[in-house]
Amino acid sequence: MKFLITAGPTREYLDPVRFISNPATGTLGYFLAKKAMERGHSVSVISGPCNFPEIKGVKKIQVESALEMKSVVEEKFPSCDALIMTAAVSDWRPAKRYGKKLKIKKSWNLKLVPNPDILKSVAKIKKVNQVVVGFALESASIIENAKKKLRWKKLDVLVANTVENFGDSSGNNEIFVLYPDGKIKDCSGYSKRKLASFLVLEIERHNKLKRK
Ligand code: C5P
Repeated sequence: MKFLITAGPTREYLDPVRFISNPATGTLGYFLAKKAMERGHSVSVISGPCNFPEIKGVKKIQVESALEMKSVVEEKFPSCDALIMTAAVSDWRPAKRYGKKLKIKKSWNLKLVPNPDILKSVAKIKKVNQVVVGFALESASIIENAKKKLRWKKLDVLVANTVENFGDSSGNNEIFVLYPDGKIKDCSGYSKRKLASFLVLEIERHNKLKRK
């Protein structure tokens, strides 16, 4: 299978040296890419700015902003069998990117505009035999909110977890994997490595089912 995996954060610049971002490390994306490669799949990773290590045999495409990530995903998606969107895409970007470093001011208002939702745009061009996996990071009502996201983004698999799982954590908190048929698997306590192994096998299973 051809796997396309996004990883890490995005950076949304307001001037040449300042940006809005988040502490995503790309760790889950890394374990997914490694596992998929070990299982004999062809793997490409679209990575935002994080220390995503080179993996021999895995193609890495470096991007910075959500708009850049969107354009690479849209270019690569039609020829992949599975897309896994682990990237913590910034939901907003500054309305204006200044060409010169902003001078210090006492206080000022920064206007943000929403970034497009990459999974939503992929849903429009998705073919029936493609598997799309999304993630949902929630502070409360994890399952309720995740169910909405699963439908809204037309996902085959959605991994819902809590904000405590974000960034550099070991990933030992609540994790639920949701499917469109209403099934929910409780993966709470799984390490990122274990979750990655589970997801790669799940994607292979979905791919087989879709091809029947
Ligand atoms: O809505 P929320 O940000 O929780 O959605 C998370 C999922 O959607 C993740 O899989 C993330 O990669 C993806 N996403 C996206 N485009 C955005 C924001 C998030 O594809 N602009």
